[in-house]
Amino acid sequence: MLKNFLFNHRIYLDNSATTRFKPKTVIKAVEKALRFSSNGGRGGHEDSIRAAIMVENTRDLIKSITFDGFVIMTKSCTEALNLALFGLNLEGKEVVTTVFEHNSVLRPLERLKMKGVTVHYLAPSDGVVKVSDLSAVFNENTALLVMSEMSNVTGKVQNVKELAKYARVHNVLTLIDTAQSLGHVCGDYSDVDMLASSGHKGLHAPQGTGFLVFRENISINPLTCGGTGTDSTSLSQPLTPPEAHESGTLNTPGIAGLYEGIKWTKRHYDYILNHIAILTNKLVKALKELDGVTLYSDNLYGIVAFNLKGLTSNETADILNKEYGISVRSGLHCAPLMHEYLGTLERGIVRASIGVNNSESDVEALIQAVKIILKNY
Ligand code: ALA
Repeated sequence: MLKNFLFNHRIYLDNSATTRFKPKTVIKAVEKALRFSSNGGRGGHEDSIRAAIMVENTRDLIKSITFDGFVIMTKSCTEALNLALFGLNLEGKEVVTTVFEHNSVLRPLERLKMKGVTVHYLAPSDGVVKVSDLSAVFNENTALLVMSEMSNVTGKVQNVKELAKYARVHNVLTLIDTAQSLGHVCGDYSDVDMLASSGHKGLHAPQGTGFLVFRENISINPLTCGGTGTDSTSLSQPLTPPEAHESGTLNTPGIAGLYEGIKWTKRHYDYILNHIAILTNKLVKALKELDGVTLYSDNLYGIVAFNLKGLTSNETADILNKEYGISVRSGLHCAPLMHEYLGTLERGIVRASIGVNNSESDVEALIQAVKIILKNY
């Protein structure tokens, strides 16, 4: 009976992969941009100019939540990270990162290693990257610190402000992956040099949107060559941002949605934070009280990582999906070194991630499901 009452509709708790909730204004903006499709920056007619203005307004809005600099529109945070990592001249240099990173950082770095880049992985035992960790590895050849602000596995947040400040004093550039944090933490990026993010998570925008912001004194080589709508007689790729990095037709409907998503997130920021914190706290508290639950998270930002006794993470997620209609992510979350660090490389971790449109009853349903699974398996 209880099962029927609690689990008669699907419950989406995979908001860290993609937030389920998209504001009406986002949906309307995407529809409008599709109805009036045109290419900004590729023509002088009114429709092209209107699209270009919308893209420029979106760049300004992105600056308002990050910092002043060049804003490059990408299809994802991954693409933005790749653009920076392969576009900086890192050959023969040293890069510092952490074992908490996503493959969107780890895999480009592995490729750079083949080009003579040395990579140092920090793995602080308490999970907190400190200035002393940086000072232990920084040397005159260190060119870059690249790290995420919030782990996509555990939700742990790093003190980016303090680390970036230290890096800047030591002439080391910083590239911060804010895929999970933007829209969830009130970041201070005043000393950050480059910031990558996606639109479809904390900013409530469509998938296929992302961006790289970088200070105007930094030079990044384009990753993709093609039309820019500028200097068209030249067969060489122009180097002036942002056009140099945006060859190919932009995802104008997605960017229109991104604009509205950021506006909505800014307007409702306090509510979002508070609502997610209440639900996260409820879930964490309940899981802590259950025998047979291993918890890996300690944050109020909606990411709750756990495992249930006797089950792999995939088995738990499968049961939640099939028997209870609850969507969570399991496995390695594309962050293998984090799982090595946590000792969960074999088993993986179950990650429930809460979004602004989840309710107390969604969380209650997960808690009840976990209790029944613990009894039955
Ligand atoms: N990086 C995304 C996640 O953590 C897709 O699920």
